[in-house]
Order: sequence, then C-alpha cells, then structure tokens
Amino acid sequence: MARPFLKWAGGKNWFVNQEYDRLPLQYNRYIEPFLGGGSVFFYMNPEQAILSDINDELINAYICLRDEFESVYRNLHTHQIKNSKEYYYVIRSRRTRTNATSAARTIYLNKACFNGIYRVNRDGGFNVPYGKVKNVIFDKHDLHDSSIALGNVEILCQDFEETIDLAERDDFIFCDPPYAVLNEDNRFVSYTANLFSWNDQVRLSLALNRAAQRGVKILMTNVNHQEVRALYENLYGFELDVVERNCMISSQLNARRVYSELIVTANM
Ligand SMILES: C[S@@+](CC[C@H](N)C(=O)[O-])C[C@H]1O[C@@H](n2cnc3c(N)ncnc32)[C@H](O)[C@@H]1O
Repeated sequence: MARPFLKWAGGKNWFVNQEYDRLPLQYNRYIEPFLGGGSVFFYMNPEQAILSDINDELINAYICLRDEFESVYRNLHTHQIKNSKEYYYVIRSRRTRTNATSAARTIYLNKACFNGIYRVNRDGGFNVPYGKVKNVIFDKHDLHDSSIALGNVEILCQDFEETIDLAERDDFIFCDPPYAVLNEDNRFVSYTANLFSWNDQVRLSLALNRAAQRGVKILMTNVNHQEVRALYENLYGFELDVVERNCMISSQLNARRVYSELIVTANM
C-alpha cells in the first residue's frame, strides 16, 4: 500500500488508525483541499481524485513524484549519500534549476529537518534547522508506490474554496484545515498573513455548506472549539462529533497527552 512520502504538521495517521470506519465505501471522486502529507488519500487509494493545497513547493513535489519519478529519485539518492549537517545547510540555501530538483530538495529537507516542520521566512525561504537524523533513507519501492497512487489524480495549487466548489453530487471531500488559529486567550486570531484566520474558517463553513446542498459527501476534522462548532451546529444536514485521541509525548517515557478533535460530516 502506498504511504505518505512527507511528514506534515497535523498529519492524519491517527485518524486513519483510529477512525477509518467513518470513511465512506462508495463515492465518485475523492477530493482533498488541504493536502499536506495526504495520509487519508494514500489510505483510501481512490480511483479518481482531486488533491490541492496552497503551498506551491508541496504541490510541485506531488506533481514531480507523479510525472518525473526517475529524475526525482536520482536526486534523492544523491541527497541520501551526501547527507550531513553541512550538506543540509548547503541544499537549504541553494536555489534549484528544475521542477524535479526542486521536488527532491523539498522531500530531502522534509526528511532531514527538525521534526518534519515546514516553516519559511518572510522571503519564502525554508528556515527549519537540521534534525540530526543519522541516516536519511529514501526507499525506491515505497516512493514508486506513492508515484503510482498519484497516477490518475488531478493535483492543483490553489485556495481551498476553489477546490471545494469543484465537488459534485456523490463526490467525497476529506477536509483537514490547519488548526493553528488560537491566541493565548483561546480566541481566534482575526488576521495573520500565514495562518488560517477566523475569516478562513467562516469561508470554509460557507463553501462546505454549498457543497452539502449539492449532495457532496463531507468529512471534516477541525479544532474542537466552541466558535468552530457554532459555525456548523445550525447548518442543515451537518452532524458534529468529538473524538479523543492519545498522543505519546516523545520527550517523556510512557507519558501521554489526550487531545480532543471535532469531526463534522454531511451526507454520509
Ligand atoms: C493540517 S494540514 C493537512 C494535513 C494532512 N491532512 C495530512 O495528513 O498531512 C493543512 C494544510 O492546509 C494548507 N493550507 C493552508 N491554508 C490554505 C488555503 N487557504 N487553501 C488551501 N490549503 C491551505 C497548508 O499548506 C497545509 O498543508
């Protein structure tokens, strides 16, 4: 089975392991407007899909892995052999000449950086430090499986609203927006350049409501916050559920933290 080739903040492996029976068995196209590492896409392995994200480096990596597999893999193999702290910083500071070398750079930095975080400075330059990973290994078979799974997929770099508006009756939207929206008082940040703002949350609820009225199947995970719940509670046809998940705290032996997450569905 193909698996995510990137480690992404907010990755939905826990959802695939714990909540997979919420996913539909029958649907037309699979549509994921906040792709990130695509855990749910790779788990479902749909025949037809539209995948999108606003991050152009991320989307370039998906497109090149699908269309230029040999070239991307050749570059990754070089990164694997040369990996070291010094090499990481050279690649991080270097511009790439082709889409395939850029895709390999994105995949390598994601694997070798600290905790698979994606963070850029004001000029859009990736600025996450080296992750002290001893051996960075790219498995050709695993990557090829991911490339094949993307074979029949439309991959787009665009805002979520455009993608949700493409969905038609009996398509399935899996929707996993960024969660980082609360400030210290547990209130939503109304505007920031890079974060998902409150205005985006409202835009998302309106776009999903339009899609639900068209008969699209919808499953969204979101932050379990009273203001987000209120956006969906009074919408016709939407159901809300809260799930708890355990998470190991990597710095402390056997320590766990419990997170609660909101799940919103329609037409399921
Ligand atoms: C929580 S992550 C998705 C994680 C993914 N489900 C996984 O398993 O890895 C959210 C994604 O939304 C993307 N994003 C943020 N704002 C967006 C927007 N306005 N339109 C589309 N994508 C956006 C980010 O680039 C990020 O990749």
